[in-house]
Amino acid sequence: MIMTFLELVKLRQSNRAYQDKPVEREKIEQCLEAARLSPSSNNTQGWTFIVINDTELKNRVAKAAFRLWGAFVNQAPVIIALVAEKPLLITRFGVTVKKIDFTLLDMGIAATHICLQAAEIGLGSCMVESFDEKTVKSLLNVPDSRRIALLITLGYPADKQREKKRKTFDEVVRWNKY
Ligand SMILES: Cc1cc2nc3c(=O)[nH]c(=O)nc-3n(C[C@H](O)[C@H](O)[C@H](O)COP(=O)(O)O)c2cc1C
Repeated sequence: MIMTFLELVKLRQSNRAYQDKPVEREKIEQCLEAARLSPSSNNTQGWTFIVINDTELKNRVAKAAFRLWGAFVNQAPVIIALVAEKPLLITRFGVTVKKIDFTLLDMGIAATHICLQAAEIGLGSCMVESFDEKTVKSLLNVPDSRRIALLITLGYPADKQREKKRKTFDEVVRWNKY
């Protein structure tokens, strides 16, 4: 099936139900290759992606996702943790002077690449911000000096395709002035 980029964008959704079916290693690697190639501020590439596919460990990580939003996390056969490495000096300059954390922007772009690549090869995904970072860091041996920006669930989806709920084009797009 040949898909346009916009069709792929519409296909990607936050999947909050998964089939009881493992994900092939090559498919996981393909998603991470898309992340590896994503752009970053000053080409910093300040990220490490931890693949959690050991079921027991994955279930313990899933337990650290807050219940309200995270009840589905343990259904996913794979979780990817996006670890933000120590920012370079130039990135720290951005945080202090411009008050923009470029490392986190970079993580968001990488996360998008993962989820779009997943959708293209028939996988479902969901970015998850609501988890107990301290617990997940200790489960994955992530040093104190690093942050886990996001978890991404990955698996064969079991939920239906939904219509996108979004603001209208005219609400969010302006031309030439605010
Ligand atoms: C940075 C970020 C963090 C998110 N964290 C969560 C989360 O903790 N739990 C969850 O169920 N969905 C989470 N989501 C998914 C959003 O709720 C979802 O993208 C939004 O409602 C739009 O729906 P769609 O992704 O299905 O198009 C997150 C999305 C982003 C971009």
